[in-house]
Amino acid sequence: MDKLLIKGGARLAGEIAISGAKNAALPLLCAALLTDEAVTFTNVPQLKDIATLLRLLADMGVQVSREGDTVTLQAREISNPVASYELVKTMRAAILVLCPLVARCGEARVSLPGGCAIGARPVDQHIKGLQAMGAEVNVDHGYVLAKSPRLKGARIFTDMVTVTGTENLMMAAALADGVTVIENAAREPEVVDLANCLVAMGAQISGAGTDVIRVQGVARLHGCTHRIMPDRIETGTYLCAAAVTGGEVRLNNTSSAYLDAVIDKLMDAGCEVQAERHAIHLKAPARLKAVSLRTSPYPAFPTDMQAQFMALNSVAEGSAMIRETIFENRFMHAVELQRLGADIKIDGNSALVTGVEKLQGAAVMATDLRASASLVIAGLVAEGETLIDRIYHLDRGYEKLDEKLVALGASVSRTS
Ligand code: EPZ
Repeated sequence: MDKLLIKGGARLAGEIAISGAKNAALPLLCAALLTDEAVTFTNVPQLKDIATLLRLLADMGVQVSREGDTVTLQAREISNPVASYELVKTMRAAILVLCPLVARCGEARVSLPGGCAIGARPVDQHIKGLQAMGAEVNVDHGYVLAKSPRLKGARIFTDMVTVTGTENLMMAAALADGVTVIENAAREPEVVDLANCLVAMGAQISGAGTDVIRVQGVARLHGCTHRIMPDRIETGTYLCAAAVTGGEVRLNNTSSAYLDAVIDKLMDAGCEVQAERHAIHLKAPARLKAVSLRTSPYPAFPTDMQAQFMALNSVAEGSAMIRETIFENRFMHAVELQRLGADIKIDGNSALVTGVEKLQGAAVMATDLRASASLVIAGLVAEGETLIDRIYHLDRGYEKLDEKLVALGASVSRTS
């Protein structure tokens, strides 16, 4: 099993390119199921989760071709509208095939994703929305079985803001008979990226990016070419890495447009941040000031950046309170950061972090994607060597992370 060895102390400097967004690419690739024509995506990140989803789509009968960061999918025939537990348990976002399969083939058999390190991750809202659109949905032996000869437009109010729930239901509505209104919709930029692609395929969607999305169903969709938006969480992760090392970096092929809440916190911590058209430039102070935060749905502070800021606060001046309001168990990184010498007190969904002068390198273990990122950030600034185990979590969501960090001057190497 691969490990990451980091020698702390290097000040990050220079520039790297940000990859396409994992959390935009996953729903977008599933949208190709909605048409029998070819759909081409560019700026597709080379990630384990993407490879896993492409394998699942190919198993369903979708023709898949990949050239570098360009992927072309054609679902002429869907011979096997099934997503097995073996696959879904490794990549829960596979639930995003559920609605496109019902909309296109009239049926789907998709394994319940089950929980993961950060929480139970139920999909009841996905199911509730499909039922509102007239589908017959049963959960049997761990699988969601959904059937509908033709979905009907409906008014859907999700009990909470759900990103993939909004995406799944928007894809179902695109081919439904009549108008669907999704209220309490997620406003994340990845939802907007998906809506833009669906409209390019012939869908009639308005309101994406607001909490009310209206979809006028159409009889069929056609192919298109779509460039995947930059990964705002990868962007934020490298900004934090540069910030904790007192560094100065430029991140290319990205945009500050979707990171206002994160950039505000970095500036509160003492960083200078310049937003350019397709780049962000950050210059960090010698020592950061601790910043309190509370995670909430977009456009507020993203839960996917919480772990990274816990690492940042671990070495900042002062104390900060971190509140996690989205997931019930997203502090797994705290105990690992404590192994590096961080002063963190957990109380329910709150963490009080008091910055220390120096962290000490140690052997630690990754538990989930963003927790791994926080351990990398801590290792970059810790004294001595940090060895991070189970870095397959990192490979799910960060393309060429070790290469990009080395390009910025970090001392990072992958060992088995
Ligand atoms: C998406 O997960 C992202 N994944 C997550 O990123 C991200 O953390 C999350 O949104 C929140 O922003 C992808 O886009 C592939 P939710 P998702 O449905 O859609 C509860 C990463 O690190 N809920 O918005 O699964 C749920 O338990 C990953 O890249 C229900 O109760 O999250 C959670 O508490 C981690 N029932 C809250 O809502 C449902 O049917 C928000 O979940 C759906 C969700």
